[in-house]
Parts: sequence; structure tokens; C-alpha cells
Amino acid sequence: MKVTVVGAGAVGATCADNIARKELCNELVLLDIKEGIAEGKAQDMMQTATLLGFDTKITGSTNDYLKTANSDVVVITSGLPRKPGMTREELIGVNAGIVKGVCENILKHSPNAIIIVISNPMDTMTYLALQSTGLPKNRIIGMGGTLDSSRFKYQLSQHLGCSPADLNAVVVGGHGDTTMIPLIRLATWNSTPVTNFLSAEQQEKIVKDTMVGGATLTALIGTSAWYAPGAAGAALVESILRDEKKLFTCCVALDGEYGQKDICLGVPVIIGKNGWEKILDFKLNDNEQAIFNKSADAVRSMNDVLKTL
Ligand code: 2OP
Repeated sequence: MKVTVVGAGAVGATCADNIARKELCNELVLLDIKEGIAEGKAQDMMQTATLLGFDTKITGSTNDYLKTANSDVVVITSGLPRKPGMTREELIGVNAGIVKGVCENILKHSPNAIIIVISNPMDTMTYLALQSTGLPKNRIIGMGGTLDSSRFKYQLSQHLGCSPADLNAVVVGGHGDTTMIPLIRLATWNSTPVTNFLSAEQQEKIVKDTMVGGATLTALIGTSAWYAPGAAGAALVESILRDEKKLFTCCVALDGEYGQKDICLGVPVIIGKNGWEKILDFKLNDNEQAIFNKSADAVRSMNDVLKTL
């Protein structure tokens, strides 16, 4: 198995590091446009192989897509990260050109690859990847909801004083500070609704803190976060390469599911060897559906910006 991670910044390198530690593939290529950075980080990671006990062969490449040939999965992290005070949406102009070019180059050498999009604004970049490549929709997966759901479980665990591993909770909708929808009504602590144990104020705070999870970290660190985004990308790679059929919230093309069409948005999906294999389409309550529709409207107007570029 072969995986390519495009973009050797903090998110891409962390994603590659997680993939190698888990030995998800035998060949892993890290590619970046900046001279030497991917080669350097690949070598640094390879020098952990005997310490961590993995056998994956990691190579770096400065923009040479030939080295990525025949990848089974490609993770795209390229583009500018956000700075404090910036929204993910402000990155669209620069990142759209980058993501489109990366997709073209990747498919020249790996026509059968499944593509995972992490670059922001993630919902629009996923839509762009789907439109510009014309690939079957199941092969384009946006990572956002996987990360947001993990952040949601973290926030819940802090209030419940429990292990995040005992929680089931999903964030659907867009991957934006105002477009994501943590579905607290459906979140459970083992099989019991978390709402049994949280006051209305706590629930409101958990939802709010989840929604601005990325922005909070950007303010603290001075740039976009990388540990959880990188790990979320690697978790999707794992479910694909091991055909685990795990359920993740991912940004995928909707064709009537959740009442939406011609848009990529976060919904629960089964991830396996064919990419996203099935959408779990269940009935939201009226309030949740109204918020979902609003989120779709916001993402759709962001997608419209693509036409002006
Ligand atoms: C985040 O939320 C990178 O968009 C990503 O941290």
C-alpha cells in the first residue's frame, strides 16, 4: 500500500507521522512545494523508525509528483493555514488554486487514488476537488467533521469528567466556526444520553466551545492546530486501507441526503476500501434540520466564490 501526503507543514507532517507509526502502508511520500522541507521531515521521521518500531518507508519530495505514482490514498493538506482572527473562509482565494493544481498532478500519476481533503475552507475545497477532478463521489472525502467530532468528545469529557473514549458524539454540517453543528441531543456516554448529566448552560457552552475549537487553538498557538487535524486524517487513511468500515463524520457529496444536493457537507459516513461507502441518512429534528439547511446555505455561498476566481 502507498500513501502520499501533500503539504509538509505541521498538519501534513503530523498526519504522515501518525500513518507511519501505525504502519498503515509500506510506502509513504511526503511532498511539498518548498525546497527540501519534505525531504528533511521525511528523514527526521525515518530516524524515529527504530525507536518507534515501524517499517514504513517514508520519502520526501520537492514537488516531484512522479514519486507519488500509484498511491492508494492521497491526503491534501496544502495551502495557507489561518492566522489568529482569520476565518477558514478567508483562505479560499489562495487555497483554491493550490488544491486544484495538486489534484491534477496527483491524478496524473495515481488515477485510482482516494483523496482526503484537509485544506481550508475544507467544505469548499472538497467540493472543488470533486468538481475539478470529476472523480466518482465516493473517492473524495473532506476530513472536517472527523476532527470536529473528536473536539466535541473532548469538550464533553471535560464537563462529564469521563474518558472521551466512552463517548459517542458527532458534529455535522460545515467545518466553519458558525456552520458546524455539534448534535448534543444525540450524544451518548456509553449508551446513555449525555444530556441527562449536563445542565442547559453546560450544554450550550460545550456546543459553543466545540464550534470555535479551531479558532481557540489558533489564538493560543498563533497558527492553525495540527495534532488533532493530522490524527483525524490518519484515522481516515486507516479505515480505508484496513477496510474497517468505521463510522466518521466526513464532508461528502450529498445527493438528496439530509435534504441537500450539489454540495459537500459533513454527515456520518462509513469509510472503507472504496472511500466513503454509505451515508447514514437519519432524520434530524426540525430545529437541527433548520440549522443544517442554514449551514448548507453558508457553504453554498462560499462555493459560489469559486466561480469568481
Ligand atoms: C482546524 O480546525 C485545521 O481546520 C483545521 O484546526
